[in-house]
Amino acid sequence: MIEMTNRFHGRVALVTGGASGIGKATALRIASEGGAVAIGDVQEPAGIEVVSEIERSGGKAVFVRLDVTSEQDWANAVEVVVSTLGKLDILINNAGIGDTEPLEITSLDTWNKVVAVTQTSVFLGMKAAAAPLKASGNGSVVNISSMYGIVGSGVSPAYHAAKGAVRLLTKTTALGWAKEGVRVNSVHPGFIDTPILGDTDREMLIAGTPMGRLGRADEMAALIAFVASDDASFATGSEFVADGGVTAG
Ligand SMILES: NC(=O)c1ccc[n+]([C@@H]2O[C@H](COP(=O)([O-])OP(=O)(O)OC[C@H]3O[C@@H](n4cnc5c(N)ncnc54)[C@H](O)[C@@H]3O)[C@@H](O)[C@H]2O)c1
Repeated sequence: MIEMTNRFHGRVALVTGGASGIGKATALRIASEGGAVAIGDVQEPAGIEVVSEIERSGGKAVFVRLDVTSEQDWANAVEVVVSTLGKLDILINNAGIGDTEPLEITSLDTWNKVVAVTQTSVFLGMKAAAAPLKASGNGSVVNISSMYGIVGSGVSPAYHAAKGAVRLLTKTTALGWAKEGVRVNSVHPGFIDTPILGDTDREMLIAGTPMGRLGRADEMAALIAFVASDDASFATGSEFVADGGVTAG
């Protein structure tokens, strides 16, 4: 049983892709530690259900419809968060999709879609939230990359390229904002049992993981919450890997 703290008391976070999987677990975790949370997602009923779950436990949350590939949606989402929750201290750029095919049969449409949702979204999000994050005086951005932003796998060219780009976009933004009170870090999950895995063979993923199991969304949420919180107050431009040992070899 994890002893919950109040690390996010008085803090406001926006979690993209917060309707499902790692984003949902992260929203619940931040709310459970006293933070007000905005769920930004294209899945409206599921996102509203996460808000209800947080409210039922006595927390504060709002849902905002946010297609992370739309600059207009980002402007609107940041405006809604600041007007309803008062400010924006923490941005978790978590929404993402993947491709699965070898490069030679990956269509340009697939490439463009994956890059838009997984990579361009992080650029748009940090740009849209820059002013309130700097105004916070203690801003924190956590960009969810992947272990596949560090190593290749032989397939999924758009996903690897996008997640690798998120890693360096994180570092350069961290340096740009280092004196402005905003930390920017990336988190790199291994195989986590969420809907993004679709019908991928779980046993194959487990066999490829030294710890011999898949990760859980709540385990990622714990790491993301640590990186977002003041417990990681001297970390910026850093990459935090939690992959059951995959990239250690
Ligand atoms: N599960 C894993 O094994 C794993 C491993 C490494 C990295 N990740 C990364 O973690 C992040 C979360 O993935 P997950 O595993 O929780 O998957 P998930 O499919 O459960 O959640 C992804 C969420 O993103 C949302 N989303 C998709 N397109 C969107 C858009 N255009 N605008 C707004 N929201 C959108 C979906 O509606 C969904 O709620 C992703 O960036 C993913 O690449 C996951």
